[in-house]
Amino acid sequence: MIKAQGLGKTYMSGGLPLEVLKDVELTFESGSLSAVVGPSGSGKTTLLGLLAGLDAPSAGRVLLEDQDLTAMSEDEKARFRAENVGFVFQTFHLLASLTALENVLVPLELTGRAKKAADSARALLERVGLGGREGHYPAQLSGGERQRVALARAFANQPRILFADEPTGNLDHETGLGVAAMLEQMNRESGTTLVMVTHDLELAERAERVISLSGGRVVADRAGSGSNGASGFDGRRSDEGRS
Ligand SMILES: Nc1ncnc2c1ncn2[C@@H]1O[C@H](COP(=O)(O)OP(=O)(O)OP(=O)(O)O)[C@@H](O)[C@H]1O
Ligand SMILES: [Mg+2]
Repeated sequence: MIKAQGLGKTYMSGGLPLEVLKDVELTFESGSLSAVVGPSGSGKTTLLGLLAGLDAPSAGRVLLEDQDLTAMSEDEKARFRAENVGFVFQTFHLLASLTALENVLVPLELTGRAKKAADSARALLERVGLGGREGHYPAQLSGGERQRVALARAFANQPRILFADEPTGNLDHETGLGVAAMLEQMNRESGTTLVMVTHDLELAERAERVISLSGGRVVADRAGSGSNGASGFDGRRSDEGRS
């Protein structure tokens, strides 16, 4: 479960405070699939960064699986994240000096689950349609291919919580649907709690829950069609296998 309590973020900009996130109260149940939508600059990436403990809030706190992230040291947070949290960044954050395969291996090696790591990394790349691109460096991949490497990397540890910032933003419609189906499958089969930022309203609508941000505030929080047994991303019920 993820809990944001009174969460706020203020940046100093030209000597003046700029409040980009205000008093956000949200609870994400374990195994839920939520979409976050809102105009550019409304605070979506900021919110995800705070929920994942990548960034420190100016106000409030974040509880992840009952652990107060805001009370942890940087080392504790890093360890907790390595074991529990996957993150797909809007800007991918691939390491330029590593091949596609090596990028996917990074989190596997961080947690010491290196056993069969190369095999798992290869299988993950295959699953995102990049079999045969294992040895390519990020500079030798297209934008959409980089995005899929980032997704494979986020899946590597089978995290209990996965944050994805515009995971389909650089993909054509069909590849985007494939990636969405993978996210959905991970949510359904592994019970991964998924929070996804997307500008794709069709995609957002398929989530169980759609949270709208505007000007740093939650302005709407409603059920998506994934909550009532309608088709999920891959045409199956998104609540299958859960009570
Ligand atoms: N490090 C920073 N310093 C100052 N302002 C920042 C910083 N990071 C983000 N902001 C501002 O915070 C606001 C929210 O940014 P954020 O990246 O969360 O928006 P977003 O909703 O993800 O937008 P997009 O859809 O374009 O990705 C923006 O107005 C941005 O300019
Ligand atoms: Mg963003």
